[in-house]
Amino acid sequence: MPRSSRNRSKSAGPSTGRSLDFVAELSNDPESHRKSIYPGFMMNRFFSDQAQCQPCGRILFVDDDINLLESQKRTFVDRYDVITASCADDALQKLGRSSDISVVVSDIRMPDTDGIALLRQISQFYPDIVRIIFTGYVNLQNAMDAVNECQAFRILSKPCSTEKMKAALDAALSQSRLIQGQRELAVLRKYQHAMEGVILGFTKLVETRDPYTAGHQRKVSNLAAIIAQEMGLGLDCVAGIRLAGLVHDIGKVYVPVEFLNKAGKLSDIEFSIIKQHPLVGHEILSPIDFSWPLSRFVLEHHERLDGSGYPYGLSGDDISIEAKILAVADTVDAMTSNRPYRPALGIEAALREIEDNQSTHYAPEAVRACLTLFCEKGFRECLE
Ligand SMILES: [Fe+2]
Ligand SMILES: [Fe+2]
Repeated sequence: MPRSSRNRSKSAGPSTGRSLDFVAELSNDPESHRKSIYPGFMMNRFFSDQAQCQPCGRILFVDDDINLLESQKRTFVDRYDVITASCADDALQKLGRSSDISVVVSDIRMPDTDGIALLRQISQFYPDIVRIIFTGYVNLQNAMDAVNECQAFRILSKPCSTEKMKAALDAALSQSRLIQGQRELAVLRKYQHAMEGVILGFTKLVETRDPYTAGHQRKVSNLAAIIAQEMGLGLDCVAGIRLAGLVHDIGKVYVPVEFLNKAGKLSDIEFSIIKQHPLVGHEILSPIDFSWPLSRFVLEHHERLDGSGYPYGLSGDDISIEAKILAVADTVDAMTSNRPYRPALGIEAALREIEDNQSTHYAPEAVRACLTLFCEKGFRECLE
């Protein structure tokens, strides 16, 4: 890119948080940039999946019978991470020091604080820890206290076979993982909600600079998602496409406003700068840990099946299915919208464009789904 254009675009565009010289660097060495993207993406997914493995459960046995504690430790140490406490105070100290105890198995009759009082405190301060009563004095009152005051998961009577205790501990650890999973899901929902807010903010950022494309990303998002549904793709894939559509043109923050709103024909230099927007979008999004590789979908949304697209001239299966679907939705919405340099061309012209160029530019399966939606199912509302 000529130096004069780079300087001009840097001063005209808002900051993306780092020097936009990186776009010129990418243009000078596109192959190394491309290599840096594609292998890395799959490895990141692999390692994040590996990191989600569940660790083995840690179990705290509480009893004033030291011999029994020693015996339990010897019996279960190969199967679980076992720690012991000889009284309630000792147990509370160990709970305070160790954040990864999943299950507490407690006797009832102990000097000072009894097991019911201990488990009541645990249920109050460590509600995610699964609680088991293990006592030689099972009677109706103990059972009612265990259920009503401690929300005990199981009540086991002494003596108890190794197999029976193992079955109870395995069930308690499953329950613990279920509780942990529910907590993580709640956090993920919050995270996803916040992330969607950030994405909508990005969408507005582009649209405030470019009123002619106001609503374009939202409409592409809706149309791409419904094409993906029509193609029978899974809910997770559809959700990723919907989010990618909302930010697919985020890289236009790099393009000077006068280029975006120019009524006449763009010069070659102006068009070459506009063609950087998938790369800039990728750079903006890639540091964010989305649940989907949105930066890759955004990078590829102007690639075409026969290699005639940009920025890399990728072809065929090198282009993600998500980007192929975005390309169809993007073309249909762009052609049915007014632009500074031309009025809207209409849905018939847009559908003709994707039909005539399927297999060369657009993925036939995405084109077929789009034609089905508009020609057979009377679909119009996502472009409104
Ligand atoms: Fe675009
Ligand atoms: Fe677009």
